[in-house]
Amino acid sequence: MNVIFLGPPGAGKGTHAQKISQEFSIPQISTGDILRQAIKDGTEVGLKAKEYMDAGKLVPDSVVIAIAEQRLKADDCKKGYILDGFPRTVAQAEALDKIADIDFVVDIDVDDEVIVKRLSGRRVCPDCQTVYHVDFEGYSPICAKCGGNVIQRKDDNEDTIRERLSVYAQQTAPLIDYYKKAGKLIVVDGAKPVSEVFADVKKAFEA
Ligand code: AP5
Repeated sequence: MNVIFLGPPGAGKGTHAQKISQEFSIPQISTGDILRQAIKDGTEVGLKAKEYMDAGKLVPDSVVIAIAEQRLKADDCKKGYILDGFPRTVAQAEALDKIADIDFVVDIDVDDEVIVKRLSGRRVCPDCQTVYHVDFEGYSPICAKCGGNVIQRKDDNEDTIRERLSVYAQQTAPLIDYYKKAGKLIVVDGAKPVSEVFADVKKAFEA
């Protein structure tokens, strides 16, 4: 099963992609995680991507499309995959159409003000990418999964979050229509509690 998770920053794409990946044993492919790793490793791609990411802008299509093309060739994608954060522009979606057969697209729909609150409180383990929120019961700055020290992402400050939301509205939201026309769009209400959103997302996989 080849699936795309669409939705604004902070909608819960990573949270649910991680759970689906574990439950259905297919990889979660997050272009954001790949780019952050490239920055950490100091690669040429990382150096190019950093200024865009820190400013809440999209990394140029040519860079991200090359990353996705390369990643989708890996053996672990043969059984299927979840694309988390790719495509994000019509040009990326068109490039993806040439190399992949997408079964369906899950659009996780959440209002902007909910997102600002969510992302300001998000914490991430830099070692295993597990996502937390400071308001979740039992939250601890030590990752429950691998023992790493969780951090706040550099782009999770209010000004950059609002810039990311504006970029989403202009450049990524047109993909909702793109996939609706292709008959592949499933919309879930991402404002509900995590367990309820996950149950709705899972229904799409089990249908
Ligand atoms: P990326 O890493 O993809 O970030 P994003 O799309 O902005 O999405 P997020 O990771 O912020 O949010 P999410 O939807 O995964 O939410 P999460 O599950 O963490 O991209 C970062 C940057 O990389 C981009 O700005 C761009 O520069 C670049 N980039 C990446 N891909 C690119 C591409 N294709 N083209 C060009 N540039 C690209 O949840 C958020 C928080 O909410 C967490 O704390 C979570 O615990 C909590 N939460 C989740 N669901 C719920 C719920 N139902 N109720 C309460 N809390 C919840």
